[in-house]
Amino acid sequence: MEHQPVSDVIEKSNEYVLGTYIRAPFVLDRGAGMWLFDTEGRAYLDFGAGISVNNLGHCDPGVVAAVTDQVARLSHTCNLYHTAPQADLAEALCCSGFADKVYFANSGAEAIEAAIKFARKYALVTHGPGKTGIVAFHGAFHGRTAGALALTPKERYQAPFRPLMPGATYAPFNDRDAALSAIGPETCAVFVEPVQGEGGIHPADPAFLRALRDACDATGALLVFDEIQCGVGRTGTLWAYEQTGVVPDLLTAAKALGGGLPIGATLLTDRVAAALEPGDHGSTFAGGPVVCRAALAVLEHINDPAFLAHVREMGALLTERLHAIQSPCIRAVRGLGLMIGVELDIEVAPLIASGWRHGVLMLNAGTHVLRLLPPLIVEPDHIERLVSALEAMLWEIDAV
Ligand SMILES: Cc1ncc(COP(=O)(O)O)c(C=O)c1O
Repeated sequence: MEHQPVSDVIEKSNEYVLGTYIRAPFVLDRGAGMWLFDTEGRAYLDFGAGISVNNLGHCDPGVVAAVTDQVARLSHTCNLYHTAPQADLAEALCCSGFADKVYFANSGAEAIEAAIKFARKYALVTHGPGKTGIVAFHGAFHGRTAGALALTPKERYQAPFRPLMPGATYAPFNDRDAALSAIGPETCAVFVEPVQGEGGIHPADPAFLRALRDACDATGALLVFDEIQCGVGRTGTLWAYEQTGVVPDLLTAAKALGGGLPIGATLLTDRVAAALEPGDHGSTFAGGPVVCRAALAVLEHINDPAFLAHVREMGALLTERLHAIQSPCIRAVRGLGLMIGVELDIEVAPLIASGWRHGVLMLNAGTHVLRLLPPLIVEPDHIERLVSALEAMLWEIDAV
């Protein structure tokens, strides 16, 4: 495809694409491994992975081969028919952890919507009407659709869209006592991220998750882990919950699972699945053969002990190198595996913009946390490059 001038693309995009995003002032054209290239040939080292999506980097050969083969064979059937890629992916997901069944969706928010409906139906069938409350946590992000938004207690996101789905209440994250008083007989589910992403990269304390598990068991509520951002190898185990010793009733996955194609998945136990029947939920596109082949290639690559050991090793190295940066702006470095937040005492937006000029792509989590989510194939030389660039950027800011 011939390149259009950058200003033409940006102008066209600003004119015709609804402005719900502030975008970088360049046009991306292609990707390879850890690198993205713009239409003018500039290279960017990717430490955002499309917000925890490109966990195998850009254009992973295994994903490309699987998708290319499948798209030429059969790209869509709808869910009225069986396909082998969907059955294989469901089996792989169930064999990867606690779940017995999978519901496929097309995005993270949709996986959350499904989990909300499944929890409500389970409560109705098992306990009768009235058990409809859902507890979520301050700092949580579960998505932008109506139900998910009700579980995302950020005023800026919720205010224009009230009234929201009723029944949601919020408790402080990692505060055991407050959570226990929020969970009661009316609660049908507790939604929690094992590592809060958008909220600033905050790992949940395993004792906090254990307390949630016990409170759910005591009240008949379901425990839902949202691993949309922290799952699929990001924290150094396939699922972050494996490091906590606490097992959920449902788990939502999306983002990295599709290897760059859109997918969502809600994993559940047979106990919950028994409450659901044909017609309770559905989607035309979900679990299509192309995205399922991509996801199978992703899982095969990532769910390998040597690969996950690499993630842990690189996560430890990146954390150590970030701690070593001498800058009065850095307040804290925290995270799990390759899900790392650098809390600063300055706003991170100018730093991210400075990264574009230095050829590195980084993300924010709120206004003061720099969020680093590199593809999991990152190597020490990429880490050195990122850290040197960050040191230079912070030095430029400190010098002003
Ligand atoms: C933890 C978490 N849950 C849900 C979502 C929503 O996913 P999506 O943007 O695919 O709808 C996100 C997206 O950032 C997320 O990080």
